[in-house]
Parts: sequence; structure tokens; C-alpha cells
Amino acid sequence: MFPRRRKEKRDDQKAEPLPERLPRHVAIIMDGNGRWALRRGLPRAAGHRAGVEALREVVKACLEWGIQILTVYAFSTENWKRPRSEVEALMNLLVEYLEREVRELHEQGVQIRAIGRLHELPPEARQKLQQAMQTTAGNGRLVLNLALNYGGRAELVDACAALVKDVEAGKLRAEEVREDTLERYLYTAGLPDPDLLIRAAGEMRLSNFLLWQAAYTELWVTSTLWPDFRREDLLAALEDYARRERRFGGLK
Ligand code: IPE
Ligand code: IPE
Ligand code: MG
Repeated sequence: MFPRRRKEKRDDQKAEPLPERLPRHVAIIMDGNGRWALRRGLPRAAGHRAGVEALREVVKACLEWGIQILTVYAFSTENWKRPRSEVEALMNLLVEYLEREVRELHEQGVQIRAIGRLHELPPEARQKLQQAMQTTAGNGRLVLNLALNYGGRAELVDACAALVKDVEAGKLRAEEVREDTLERYLYTAGLPDPDLLIRAAGEMRLSNFLLWQAAYTELWVTSTLWPDFRREDLLAALEDYARRERRFGGLK
């Protein structure tokens, strides 16, 4: 059911022949950190920490392979339901990640962006994020788009509210609203839709991720837990993607 892991490729992996047709925008649901930790008898926070290492490797591969946009689901609007200690650990990890990584990401030409209800993040995380986005705003090699306190439904609610406000202010007429009008009000305004959506840890659901944007995104689910996800897993997803036929409702 899951795409086979390509262990047999390991020997000649050095060259890593890339498929010709690469996605421009890859989105990832980084799931399974808790299960990874549980299996090792470690606290869940250790799984999240290991997950950061996986993210680091994937960002590196995206830079190498010329992926233009990487959107990662790091914290959902529903994740606040978790114990306070876990939420705190996640927020601390975000701050730590930004403190440790931004300089190198900046040097490598990564532009950091974020989507979600960012104003609801703890002040320190918000501040570090603002800083990171400002520092890297001019970079163009890879957009690393962090979904933080992100929910697809919240995004649509926020977009509708902003749109209605503009209608009330006389800037827009209801009759003029089309799909591209609404898109301008999404957090992802200006970014193309994801071509490929990867989910780690086997769950066959979107969990409120990019509900609008994923309308025609190719889905790829692996049973590999996120902290175990490596560049060969990403490569396997890219190879599978290259074999897909995208029809967008039309004919071949
Ligand atoms: C994903 O891992 C990270 C976040 C949701 C922040 P989980 O913490 O959901 O890991 P599982 O699903 O419990 O294994
Ligand atoms: C999705 O994973 C959110 C992130 C990876 C940040 P969850 O672990 O929150 O999703 P569910 O609860 O299994 O649907
Ligand atoms: Mg999970």
C-alpha cells in the first residue's frame, strides 16, 4: 500500500539521479514524532527534537535538488489541545531552531516565511520569526514556509473575514469575487499551490492542512515516522511524483 522504500538504491546513491519532472512546491506533514519517541521509551519532546534533524536534512536536499518552495506543517491550530508541557516544548524548539539555523539558512539563500495565526504564538517565538523573515526576505533560492498555528479552516475564515471587510469598505464588490480573488486573502497569497504533499507516519488524512491549496496536489504517504525521514525518502516521493499524470479534471 505504501510506496516501497528504495533500500536497494543505497549502494549507487552517490549520484542520486534525479527524476526530470520535479515539483516546484513540496508540502510536508511532519507527523510521527510522538510515536518515534514512544518506541524508544523517550519523552515526546525527544521525538520533536529528532524531527528537527529530519527537517534540517530535507531542507538541505531541497536546496541541492532545486526545489523552490518547501512548506512544512509544524504546529496546527488543533495542537493547542495537547498538554501544556508539550506545547511549550514545541514552542521552545521553534525558538531554538530559529536561533541556531537562520544564519546558515540565510547564507544558503533560503527565504523563511510562515503561514498561520502567527499573532497567537508566544511573544518570543513571534519575535524570532519576524526577525528570521526580515533577515531572509531578499533570498530566492528556496522558500521555507513554516506552517505555525496553521489550520486550513482558520485560514479560510480569516480570508473570508478580510474579504468581507474590503467589501464593506467599498474596495471590492461581491459580484467580482472569483477563485483568484479569494486566493489573494489566503496566508499563501503569491505562492503557487503545492504540487506534492508528503505525509509521514502513515495517516491517510490532511489534518486541516492546506485545504484550499491541496485541491489538485499529488499525495504521497509513507509509514516512515518523521524523525526517521531522510533524503532517500524524499527522493522516493519525487520519483513517484514524476510518474504521476496530473489531469486537473481534464483529459490526458
Ligand atoms: C508531529 O508529531 C508533530 C506535531 C504535531 C507538532 P506528533 O507529535 O503528532 O507525533 P504522533 O502522531 O503522536 O506520533
Ligand atoms: C498534523 O499532525 C499536524 C502536524 C504535523 C503539525 P497531527 O498529529 O496533529 O494530526 P492528527 O491529530 O493525527 O490528525
Ligand atoms: Mg501526530
